[in-house]
Amino acid sequence: MTRHRFPEGFLWGVATSAQQIEGARREDGRGDSIWDRFADTPGKIADGSDSGVACDHYHRWREDVELMKRMGLNAYRFSISWPRILPEGRGTVNAAGLGFYDALIDALLEAGLEPLPTLYHWDLPQALQDRGGWASRDTVDAFADYAAVAVRHLGDRVRWWTTHNEPWCVATLGHEEGPHAPGHTDPAEALRVAHHLLLSHARASAMIRREAPGAEVGLVTNYCPAHPATDGAADRDAARWFDGFFNRWYLDPLFRGEYPADAVADRVAAGHLAGPELPFVQDGDLAAISQPLSFLGINYYSRVVMRAGADGRREAVPPAPPAAVTDMGWEVRPEGLHESLLRLARDYAPRRLLITENGAAYDDPPGPDGRIADARRIDYLRGHLLAAQRAIADGVPLQGYFAWTLLDNFEWSFGYRMKFGLHAVDPQTLARLPKDSAGWYADTVSANAVEDSLPSTG
Ligand code: FCB
Repeated sequence: MTRHRFPEGFLWGVATSAQQIEGARREDGRGDSIWDRFADTPGKIADGSDSGVACDHYHRWREDVELMKRMGLNAYRFSISWPRILPEGRGTVNAAGLGFYDALIDALLEAGLEPLPTLYHWDLPQALQDRGGWASRDTVDAFADYAAVAVRHLGDRVRWWTTHNEPWCVATLGHEEGPHAPGHTDPAEALRVAHHLLLSHARASAMIRREAPGAEVGLVTNYCPAHPATDGAADRDAARWFDGFFNRWYLDPLFRGEYPADAVADRVAAGHLAGPELPFVQDGDLAAISQPLSFLGINYYSRVVMRAGADGRREAVPPAPPAAVTDMGWEVRPEGLHESLLRLARDYAPRRLLITENGAAYDDPPGPDGRIADARRIDYLRGHLLAAQRAIADGVPLQGYFAWTLLDNFEWSFGYRMKFGLHAVDPQTLARLPKDSAGWYADTVSANAVEDSLPSTG
């Protein structure tokens, strides 16, 4: 057994998001988000559930801060609910909503936890969706105004700000494929949305830096390496295609001020764009979008293997044994994290990287003694932390790791079926129950090191 140490000052946390844990949908003046409306629509959520109560974090947040303190964490990544602060999306500020985050942030600091709020983790105010949502350029300005409200109020205590979480999911799952709110299926609209998300990141970042000059401002993408199924040209092209629309469509504008030409050509070929000109890009947009980030956050869960299918269509190859998969059907692939971090450092040279999400869905019920022995989650986390540590040793400026997630929660269109938590939540009482992984993570954090195998004495 060898201990692999992390640098001093490494940020150790868990990540959550407002829509997935807060609940209190109609309390204290909160407005509806697009996910409230989406979950109200029959058939959209696999188990027919919604996030009206979720983990009731809005009322139980003190207990949740205590859970994090008990794990010895020094950071917490969470998101601010836009419709809780601005129920109509713009205009009247809901003081009670801001008050919730005020109290939470004070308690985090008191417990020795650095707060890392994300401004947008998918919960657009429904009122803004009614006026065109992210397809409308007006939403860009609304987002910058919202950022200003948040930073003026919380910026005296918050140093690390994240604008967006996983813009690919918002654009593609929300507007092209449809399993996420608002459930549209219009590829051309999705490209416009992606651009408006990036532009809103730029506008909000400028606003945050103006209001809080010492702030570290970044953005989070979901990074997924794509490997060809064989060395054949068609399979390699399928992997290039995936990397283009999934990873580079966001990273190239952010770091290089341009959309990737090959991925633009793919969109033209698919009929999603009339030609290589992007009609939604205005003068100055890309210069604003490519202003340096203080940090890039990546959410890493798995990789994808791509091939040209029988009819020539590019498709993902479903993982097969001996590859292990989580309940999401995602391949467990820790070395993909190492590869991703090295590629990001080499191709984009971010000032700093954070792993802002990493974790696994496994449903392990409590044993007769009430204990939840989630050995597979521990293995998953250990493998990925070893990969992260190796990337640091290879020179990647990785400064933090956030396990997804603190609590089993509302996992979007899967409802409560997918359990990613280090703690279970009793569906009736909402009581929190630590899984073995919570204790394992606490030990790792306190050692500031990860061990490469189980201690022989168990
Ligand atoms: C990410 C999301 C997060 C959660 C995990 C499993 O894509 O950011 O909210 O759903 O996946």
